[in-house]
Amino acid sequence: MMSHTNLPNAPLLPDFKARIELLLAEYSAEIPDSTLKEAMRYSLLAGGKRIRPLLVYVTGLLFNCEISKLDIPAAAIEMIHTYSLIHDDLPAMDDDDLRRGKPTCHIKFNDAQAILAGDALQSLAFSLLAKSEQLTDNSKIAMIAELANASGVYGMCLGQSLDLEAEHKQVDLEYLQKIHRHKTGDIIQSAVRLGAIASGEIAKPYYGALDDYAKAIGLAFQIQDDILDVVGEQTIMGKQQGSDEAHEKSTYPALLGLAKARNMTEKLYQQAIDSLAKIPYNSQLLQDIAGFIISRDS
Ligand code: IPE
Ligand code: IPE
Ligand code: MG
Ligand code: MG
Ligand code: MG
Repeated sequence: MMSHTNLPNAPLLPDFKARIELLLAEYSAEIPDSTLKEAMRYSLLAGGKRIRPLLVYVTGLLFNCEISKLDIPAAAIEMIHTYSLIHDDLPAMDDDDLRRGKPTCHIKFNDAQAILAGDALQSLAFSLLAKSEQLTDNSKIAMIAELANASGVYGMCLGQSLDLEAEHKQVDLEYLQKIHRHKTGDIIQSAVRLGAIASGEIAKPYYGALDDYAKAIGLAFQIQDDILDVVGEQTIMGKQQGSDEAHEKSTYPALLGLAKARNMTEKLYQQAIDSLAKIPYNSQLLQDIAGFIISRDS
């Protein structure tokens, strides 16, 4: 298979992070001054690993996509993700008071403002995509449909609903996998798909391989999150450790034990790498992200 490189070197990764931080600040600066704006920016600009925007950029660059076409989808998906975190932390859901190293949105403001901040981040994401001048109408519509699908009743919201219903219960492995794939995997898959859509025709033959990669890292991401909830350092993670056990959540370590949960992340890593081997471009950065996902400590 021919392999050719049009990718930046790995040391450029911090540049993507700096880029997305600037864009998120810029796109949210135009909101009229209000408590709602403060609550949105409080959570959106609190840091975070920015893995989903990174996946948008790195997937796009794999196909030599212009970076300006990736900026809005990268920011939009991080807004959707941040909304999901704000709501996930609410008393009615996981009832957590620490996120990204700071008091959660509802602790800093109040439940009502946190609910609205999540709602408004979600609609801002779609409005940015709809207004984008860099994207063709076809790309925009495909991206909006993709993100709506991945974040709503076919994706994250469904997963969150199943997750809450599975508290204080034993579910089997297949069902737990379904919860994890929806609540976390679908948005991660969407990040890869947005990068592929922005790239146009050149990426189309590889949609299947990219989905296989994304499904593997998406599930691995949530298993590693569950593992860190048991063994992680609160100060490094920036969120409460032990939250899952306190809520009797259905998780991989609870169902299988830590060793088997770790084994699963290794297997999924290998599946992700095997899927990338079907793409005749240099996918080193996507491989690196898969490695990071299963070895991260935050
Ligand atoms: C946490 O996501 C919630 C999950 C989907 C597991 P991240 O671990 O990506 O959180 P941030 O964005 O870095 O804060
Ligand atoms: C949440 O999973 C996934 C989301 C859709 C936000 P968790 O509830 O395990 O995420 P953390 O551990 O609070 O970040
Ligand atoms: Mg949760
Ligand atoms: Mg949670
Ligand atoms: Mg968790």
